[in-house]
Amino acid sequence: MKADPQPTISTAELQQAVEQAVRRLQQGGLVAIPTETVYGLAADASNEQAVRRIFSAKGRPADHPLIVHLAAPSIAEASEINRSDAWFKLIAPWVRDLPEEAMRLVEAFWPGPLTLVLKKDKHVLSAVTGGQDTIALRSPDHPVAQALLQEFGGGLAAPSANRFGKVSPTRAADVSAEFSDQADLLILDGGDCTVGIESTIVDLSSGAPVLLRPGAITPEQIEQKTGVRVLAAGARADADTSTPRVSGSLKAHYAPNTPLRLYAAGAALDCISQYPDTKSHVALVVWESEQMRDPHVLGASHIQQVPIPEQSDLFASRLYRLLRDLDDHTWDLIVMPEPPMGQEWDGVRDRLQRACFGSGPPVSNHVSS
Ligand code: TXA
Ligand code: MG
Repeated sequence: MKADPQPTISTAELQQAVEQAVRRLQQGGLVAIPTETVYGLAADASNEQAVRRIFSAKGRPADHPLIVHLAAPSIAEASEINRSDAWFKLIAPWVRDLPEEAMRLVEAFWPGPLTLVLKKDKHVLSAVTGGQDTIALRSPDHPVAQALLQEFGGGLAAPSANRFGKVSPTRAADVSAEFSDQADLLILDGGDCTVGIESTIVDLSSGAPVLLRPGAITPEQIEQKTGVRVLAAGARADADTSTPRVSGSLKAHYAPNTPLRLYAAGAALDCISQYPDTKSHVALVVWESEQMRDPHVLGASHIQQVPIPEQSDLFASRLYRLLRDLDDHTWDLIVMPEPPMGQEWDGVRDRLQRACFGSGPPVSNHVSS
């Protein structure tokens, strides 16, 4: 069971904060926004200078495209015309082509943690799309993000609110820690993100739909709810892999500063023993039901067990928070269990493998993907 996001502010304060955020966005500033997946660093998608500020704040290469976030149809809009037409009206200005399959995905999963890549309309700034002919769109399922989008009335370009390559933030406090040198960054606090890893990305811009980034919504769920088959990344022969269309597809990403390793079932101690310094302080993340009673662990003052839930959605919702919290301590090494097989684990497995590869100082036998 997932908890609802718990905004830590009252309705009146929320309204005030949203109005302040809208003013900031209209002036070309940046605002950190909560979504159900991770916090985003948002700017007006139609203001080129504002969009460029996102890239410099993050230290992100200019050819890595951004997702544009859209408001969901208001209740009034959706009751005037049918809901599908209301979505169509909101999406159409951003795209050149809106395939029927894309609309099926929108109706089934928006607002929600699913991003669609479509052919872009000519007015879309190339600063947003990293010079590509396509645009990534999503409508986040978070009341604060939706309140802001409704009030703002335009699209918000927003990558995850972390420095390039680092762990995405899932709490307002993580955003302020990440951008502690930017005291004037406005952060809308919408509580803890419930999904906890970034949205699933599906490319519908040419040929068969392809999964570009796994997330909470799996290809199995998509097929079951809509009948649309989504191919695995790399399955389409014509897919262009020359540009880094998804920065999360880089080998090293989502990385903590502390070295991170994954261990196979039953091999936690082997994994720790491969680490050269036996006096190292090790955070040993274990499945909640499998906390170790092994005297080598219990008797070792330099090893501390940290339990993590066995359900994929709870694991995902805690993952980045856990990595950030462990990173704040003086651990020399973090070891985590390899996630089980199955599509519901693909999102966290993907993040963990890249996090391992990019973590800590360079070591030789990192897990890579
Ligand atoms: O859950 C999420 O998607 C979060 C929240 C804030 O919405 N956003 C997020 O943004 O993860 P970011 O920039 O960290 O990751 C978005 C990914 C990037 O890796 C980017 O390369 C990819 O989406 N992307 C954006 N536009 C694209 C396009 N036209 N074609 C292919 N990939 C694209
Ligand atoms: Mg990111």
